[in-house]
Amino acid sequence: MDPPPREAAAAGGRKLRRRGGGRTRRKPQASSSPQGSAPPPAPPAKRKRGSDATPGGGGRGCKPTKKPTCLLDKMRARLSGGHFRMLNEKLYTCSGKDAFDYFTNEPDLFDVYHGGYQEQMSLWPEQPVNVIINWLNSNSAAWTVADFGCGNATVSKNVKNKFSIDLVSDDPSVIACDMAHTPLESSSVDVAIFCLSLMGTNYPRYIEEANRVLKPSGWLLIAEVRSRLDPNTGGADPDKFCEAISKLGFSLVSKDAKNKMFILFYLQKKEKNKVAKTIDWPQLKPCLYKRR
Ligand SMILES: C[S@@+](CC[C@H](N)C(=O)[O-])C[C@H]1O[C@@H](n2cnc3c(N)ncnc32)[C@H](O)[C@@H]1O
Repeated sequence: MDPPPREAAAAGGRKLRRRGGGRTRRKPQASSSPQGSAPPPAPPAKRKRGSDATPGGGGRGCKPTKKPTCLLDKMRARLSGGHFRMLNEKLYTCSGKDAFDYFTNEPDLFDVYHGGYQEQMSLWPEQPVNVIINWLNSNSAAWTVADFGCGNATVSKNVKNKFSIDLVSDDPSVIACDMAHTPLESSSVDVAIFCLSLMGTNYPRYIEEANRVLKPSGWLLIAEVRSRLDPNTGGADPDKFCEAISKLGFSLVSKDAKNKMFILFYLQKKEKNKVAKTIDWPQLKPCLYKRR
C-alpha cells in the first residue's frame, strides 16, 4: 500500500487532568479543530535544573536558581534521578502486566518517570517521536493511528484520528491499560507505533496485539534505542528482530539507521497475513541509565 498524499494535518490533544482508562472497544478519537498542515513540533525545551518535575529539580525551601546549588536541592535531584532510574529499570525488567499493576497502584510514579525521561531525551540530537510525526504528516491525514506506550501523548497532538495507550495517564484521552491487551477493535487502525516502548519482558505480545488491531496493509513503526539492537554491544541482531516480525506477517519496507541514538523500522502488514506457528523472538536487552 503506497501511502496516499496527505490532505491536511490537524492538531488535537486535550489537557484535561483526570485519570484515563476503559476496557470497552474504542472508536478512534478525532480532533474537532482541523487547522491545516501542522508543523513538526520543536523538540521539548531543555528542562532547567531547579524545576520540581525533573531529576535535577529543586523545590520548596531554596531560592529558585538555575543550578541546584543548595544542599537540599542537590539531595532532591539525586533522589529524583535515582527514582527515575529505578522506574526505568522496573519497566525494562518486568512483564507488561506487572508494570500495569505497579503503576496503577501508584499512578503518581508516571510523572516521576516522565520527568526523568524528558530530561534524558532533551540530550538526544533528534527525538524519534518527531521523526514519526513528520512521517505521519507526510502521509494520509485520514489514517487512524494507535500509539502504543504513548508517554506524554505527543503523537496524539499531531494527528486527527488516534488512540493513545499507556499504563496510566492523567490525560483522559489516553487509554490506560497494559498494551498487550488493548480494548481496540481488530483490524481497526492504519498505523501502529511503538516509539521506544517495547520495554516489557513480554514485548513480542505487544507486537502481536498491534498485529491484531492493524488493518491489512497497515503500517507498523518501531523506534528502539540503538544499543538494544546492536549485537556488538550485547543487543539483539536487528535482522533476527525483523525476521521474527515478518513471521507475524509483516514486510520490512525500510529501516532508518542514520540517527545516533535510535533505529526506526517501517514495516507493513501483508494483505493476507499468515502467522507462523513458532516465532523465535530475540531478547531485547534492557536500556539502563548510568548513575550520574
Ligand atoms: C520510553 S517511554 C516513550 C514514550 C513515548 N512513546 C515517546 O516516545 O515519547 C515508554 C512508554 O511506554 C509505556 N509502556 C511500557 N510498557 C507498557 C505496557 N505494557 N503497556 C502500556 N504502556 C507501556 C511506558 O509507561 C512509557 O510511557
